[in-house]
Amino acid sequence: MSDKVAIILAAGVSSRMNTRLPKVLHEVTGRPMLAYVLDACRSVGVEKIYVVVGFGGDQVRHRFAEASDVVWVQQAEQLGTAHAVLCCKEHLKDFDGQTMILCGDGPLIRPGTLKTVIEKHEAEQAAATLATAVLEDPTGYGRIIRDAYGNMQGIVEHSDCTPAQRAIKEVNPSYYLFNNQVLFGALERIKPENVKGEYYLTDALALIITTGHKVVAVTAVRPEEAVGVNSRAQLSVASKIMQRRIQQDLMENGVTIVDPDNTWIDARARIGQDTVIEPFVYIHGEVTIGSACRIGPFAFLRHGTVLGDDVVLGVFTEVKNVRLDDGVRARHHSYLGDAVVGKNVNVGAGSITANFDGENINQTNIGDDCYIGSGAVLIAPLMLEAGAQVGAGQVVSQDDADGLREPRR
Ligand code: UD1
Ligand code: CA
Repeated sequence: MSDKVAIILAAGVSSRMNTRLPKVLHEVTGRPMLAYVLDACRSVGVEKIYVVVGFGGDQVRHRFAEASDVVWVQQAEQLGTAHAVLCCKEHLKDFDGQTMILCGDGPLIRPGTLKTVIEKHEAEQAAATLATAVLEDPTGYGRIIRDAYGNMQGIVEHSDCTPAQRAIKEVNPSYYLFNNQVLFGALERIKPENVKGEYYLTDALALIITTGHKVVAVTAVRPEEAVGVNSRAQLSVASKIMQRRIQQDLMENGVTIVDPDNTWIDARARIGQDTVIEPFVYIHGEVTIGSACRIGPFAFLRHGTVLGDDVVLGVFTEVKNVRLDDGVRARHHSYLGDAVVGKNVNVGAGSITANFDGENINQTNIGDDCYIGSGAVLIAPLMLEAGAQVGAGQVVSQDDADGLREPRR
């Protein structure tokens, strides 16, 4: 076993979300929240991640079935965050290393924050280290209690705070690192003596301090990174913050985004240098865009789209599960679905692939240098050879396709 493991808490029922879907499967910019938290653990070298599931646990396991570094732990009854961690006891009771604990509803965690926590923990030789944030509006979060010297004394949950404690703006985003043996020692002693009657993980810190161990709280979390998703409103806030990060990264990598507030780009999208994204573009799913493309305004790029270089997709163009090679143009009002389109193909205004026959989705192949006139309907399955010309308004099925060598504009 490596010297560092992680526990991610993801068993809660999430009544505030008013949902039947497990909370951690709700998506932020196209990925389930849990995916981000898992990635954050991996980014700091954690090789084994215990994910505590309960409500909808089977769905969560199913969605992450390929994650070979995850050990699933069932929490049958949701008795609180400390109880959730205790569910990992059979796996970790003999483990002598460090245990990182994160919540599955905190997708905005950054690897850099975890690195800071680890470094601080090791430099201070602490038994527990947590990262904190200072929020203008700390409502709902556990408050960090410090003494007159600034030493951490414990955490008090929002609903258990005195009016004076409520005024504290330093909060607990739930990013912790513990000495594993000290952690499990403290968990055994936590009692559900609070307004909610739950076993609170946050109580572990005061208990660890009273047994003479060192607890360090490092104010290392930017306010926008601390957002925990407990409601649909917070889900939209987290999504917006993630969207800004995605766009920031793309712009640093040489992509022009003309109007960031009116553009939505999935976390899984890859976009090449000098591509310009015009306003009101929506990119959803695994989408790859080459260099020097021009996308939008008002284009919808869906899952499975791969664009070469110098591709132009204009106004009200929708693409899904397509490969468009270099130099393809589809400037106005087209739909291309389940197609492979060769180099320099021009798709005229209003032309579409009729890819669904009512029962099956069928494939369209368009060779290099084809010319598709305006308003054409390409009935799949269809194979157009290189250089084929489809006239304006033509409805083309495979039977017609062979006679399309002559220019018919
Ligand atoms: C928790 C912290 C709070 C912190 C906030 C940050 C506690 C007691 N409080 O509050 O200090 O400011 O996160 O976002 O820890 N869960 C389980 N099993 C349970 C209960 C919860 O797995 O029995 C999971 C939930 O699915 C969730 C996470 O633990 O992913 C946190 O639980 P939640 O109820 O959201 O706690 P908060 O009230 O947000
Ligand atoms: Ca929460």
